[in-house]
Amino acid sequence: MAKLNSPELTSHDPSVYHFGSDNYAGAHPEVLDALKRVSGGHVPAYGDDPYTQRLRAWARDTFGQQALIYPVFNGTGANLLSLSSVVPRWGSVIAAPTAHINTDETGAPEITAGLKILPAQTEAGKITPEAVRAAASNRAFIHESQSCAVSVSNSTELGTVYSPEEFQAVAHTAHELDMAVHLDGSRLANAAVSCDAALADMVAGADIVSLGATKNGAMSAEAVLVLQPDRVSGIDYLHKVLLQLSSKARYQSAQLLAMFEGDLWKRNAQHANRQAVRLAQKLSDAGFTVPTQVQANTVIAQIDPEVAQAAHAAGLLFYAWPAVPSGHRFMCAWDTPDHAIDMLVERLAAHRA
Ligand SMILES: Cc1ncc(COP(=O)(O)O)c(C=O)c1O
Repeated sequence: MAKLNSPELTSHDPSVYHFGSDNYAGAHPEVLDALKRVSGGHVPAYGDDPYTQRLRAWARDTFGQQALIYPVFNGTGANLLSLSSVVPRWGSVIAAPTAHINTDETGAPEITAGLKILPAQTEAGKITPEAVRAAASNRAFIHESQSCAVSVSNSTELGTVYSPEEFQAVAHTAHELDMAVHLDGSRLANAAVSCDAALADMVAGADIVSLGATKNGAMSAEAVLVLQPDRVSGIDYLHKVLLQLSSKARYQSAQLLAMFEGDLWKRNAQHANRQAVRLAQKLSDAGFTVPTQVQANTVIAQIDPEVAQAAHAAGLLFYAWPAVPSGHRFMCAWDTPDHAIDMLVERLAAHRA
């Protein structure tokens, strides 16, 4: 068997693209270059390195002098660190029923952070100010978990996007009810591109943000961005407690700088969003129903179970998406090429025939 450092090692075929998740894509070459550039010699560990300091300066320049930023390993960790920093032990978090924190984190918010999630009503996967009011606890009742935060995913798990105004309306209501506002920005770049808005405009109204990079071309590097330090408590310690403090933080910070100091975040998200529109169009042209709006890099299509099963058996990778009847989710990534989309749709259509 070929060794990992031997030139003939090919454990996967790099010409094959999948649609299961944008996480199936590799890291962008500019991210890999940044990792190499920061790698020589010794620097202080645990975030005292010059690259993490530079990342902190980027956060202050971009989001205001009060902003703090913490590199973390993954999106689930970003959410747990964010929410643990703004919600007390007796608190709960209002979120969409489809929110990643509610459905796809294996109960980590409950198990690891002791947080109760309160699902609120949504329209097209988005929470409204009215839904926040309806879900809010009776704050004086001792037998009820107290709603202390609202968590909003942008883009949403259904591939829809909150405009800055829509997000601010939800945030305003949450603040009126004295709740903290968390933004799960695992795909914030895709949402920003969709709205043609700056990152600072997309986060306006949030107290704390899970800032995604991995799905958009980084490699195990996300961040927690604190916009309102007065709202958070103990985050420096929770960073470690929740196992998200990297000893060699320079490697995460280098990736985040590669992604956000220039426009790589935008270029990558523009490509992924464009490809999602192309995929949705091709699926519709082939007779598949695309019941949700395609506003970011997610496409949800209705595929008969037998067709999905046959396609999976033939090696096409995508997920069933139970939030939509007969729904299957297809994600486009920063590197999804036209020909992969064409082939996917051709093969799905062939399985249906
Ligand atoms: C909206 C959203 N938030 C958070 C995450 C968590 O990211 P990770 O898988 O890196 O923990 C994901 C991952 O798919 C996601 O889609």
